Amino acid sequence: MKTLKLNNQKNIPALGLGTWKAEPGEVGAAVKKAIEVGYRHIDCAAIYGNEKEVGEGIQEGLKSTGCGREELFATSKLWNNAHRKENVRPALEKTLADLGLEYLDLYLIHWPIVFKDEVQFPESGKEYVPLKDVPVSETWEQMEKAVSDGLVKSIGVSNFSQKKLKDLISNSQIKPAVNQIELHPFLQQKGMLEFCNSQDIILTAYSPLGSKDRPESLRAKDEKPILENKVIAEIAQHHKASTAQVLIRWAVQRGTTVIPKSSNPKRIQENFDSLNLELTAEEMKKIGELDLHARYIDGSIFASEGSPYTLENIWDETE
Ligand code: A2P
Repeated sequence: MKTLKLNNQKNIPALGLGTWKAEPGEVGAAVKKAIEVGYRHIDCAAIYGNEKEVGEGIQEGLKSTGCGREELFATSKLWNNAHRKENVRPALEKTLADLGLEYLDLYLIHWPIVFKDEVQFPESGKEYVPLKDVPVSETWEQMEKAVSDGLVKSIGVSNFSQKKLKDLISNSQIKPAVNQIELHPFLQQKGMLEFCNSQDIILTAYSPLGSKDRPESLRAKDEKPILENKVIAEIAQHHKASTAQVLIRWAVQRGTTVIPKSSNPKRIQENFDSLNLELTAEEMKKIGELDLHARYIDGSIFASEGSPYTLENIWDETE
């Protein structure tokens, strides 16, 4: 498995299994299957609501393959209702207990967005807390403490703009190792990739296949399914591969890590086999021309009436 080096010299496998939207009753078997197929990187989060079953899948997968814990790279994420300094450690401990792990390889701040403590998902604008009241620096200090306490090996963020990354870098003892963001040919974020390369921060691509299984409430009516894109399909045909395989390989070949979700054994294998593909420079260039700057996960769910968060202040768009 190809790995990338994080800025603390630890390795992260380029391909991981995504577990967002992986249903209870399926996700454990999916994780086990992935480890058996050869995945060594599992991407989790407390808010996905399935960490207990993911943990069971991890234990079963390690057992059936004879792999040691140290061969696996496990990521999880701090939810938006646990950014206050006193809430970070308990949230991390709950994730570790659910996953059945003594440490995480990577812990991320899931969003630069804060909810009131008791709120899982806000139903009104009043249930948000402005970022200035619980600044990222307060949360990050606790993330750093989790490293020094030995509970996590590396720390990073998710859904952070370049501006928020710069602020964090200038206010931190430990530089973020990873920014996990939505990336695929319709949302290439070339400026972000250049910036992260220059800062020695690894990008992880989420929703690399367009997340077609996400809830209706998170979908735009006119969204373009990336798995049906003609250019990608032609390239796939040329390689006798699937469009999903080309999308995954494209992400790896541009130097990011990528976490396609699947709960289906055949597609878990198919996605893993994308690592055998090699796209030509010409094909990479063709895919490079498909950028629409179109998000599937646009953050509008957090920008409801009365919320201090807007699409502008979430993304700080500079591209
Ligand atoms: P399934 O879990 O049934 O395989 P993303 O990673 O962008 O969130 O996309 C996940 C969606 O893509 C899920 O609906 C998943 O369905 C589907 N998917 C995963 N792998 C493939 C594949 N190789 N071909 C087609 N669809 C796939």
